[in-house]
Amino acid sequence: MEPKERLIFALDVPDKMTALKYVNLLREEVGLFKVGLELFMAEGPVLLQELANIPGLGPSRFFLDLKLYDIPATVLGAILTVVHGLMLVTIHSDLGPRGLKQLVDNLGSGSAWKILAVTVLTSLSASDLEALGYVPEYARHPESLVVLKAKLAKAAGCQGVICSGREAKAVKEACGKDFLVVCPGIRPAWAGVQGDDQQRIVTPYEAIKNGADYIVVGRPIREYPDGPVAAARRVVKEIADALK
Ligand code: C5P
Repeated sequence: MEPKERLIFALDVPDKMTALKYVNLLREEVGLFKVGLELFMAEGPVLLQELANIPGLGPSRFFLDLKLYDIPATVLGAILTVVHGLMLVTIHSDLGPRGLKQLVDNLGSGSAWKILAVTVLTSLSASDLEALGYVPEYARHPESLVVLKAKLAKAAGCQGVICSGREAKAVKEACGKDFLVVCPGIRPAWAGVQGDDQQRIVTPYEAIKNGADYIVVGRPIREYPDGPVAAARRVVKEIADALK
């Protein structure tokens, strides 16, 4: 994989026109585009087809991040409605071991796309986990909780997980190098984000050094004063440096 292929740009924008603007601007700079809740709610599943039909791109350049969380039958129905060759789709690891397995089994192996389980949102801190009722063993050490959930996801047949770059190394050690690790919560030292909600952050360099296969970057690229292309290139440079 080329360094830029490891960069996923988060299309967290309110409408299709804005999304298309970023796709055209960044299609040569990043590997994948992530459609999340905001854009999906605004435009619906039809947008995925439209994006996949952009000449020269195709469905494999898009990642659907809805973090689906419901009973397995409902999640299965939702995924089958929207997935048409998209490369990566997220579900929530809190579906539990049986739910995850049931879902993955029903989706069938050998599909071109990959199911990734969200472990612990990068916007949650140790104190948030404590407030949510996790026992101190896990609340005070989010990495242990992420590894626990990653192992469950792997056992169920998921192809990878979403976690912070802080936990990427431990997940790779526990689940093997072929188990995909995708990391949001990326904050380059040179890019500030106003009113940031992310907690367990790392730089692009650190995430890749720790073993992330892909990093997800949104606001640091969208809000960069010199423009998104310049920011994406700086991120890719960090990825390349970390891979050396
Ligand atoms: O703007 P920012 O770089 O914080 O964007 C991060 C993206 O990654 C958002 O689209 C968010 O939904 C997503 N994400 C996350 N934490 C997870 C999973 C996905 O921040 N655990």
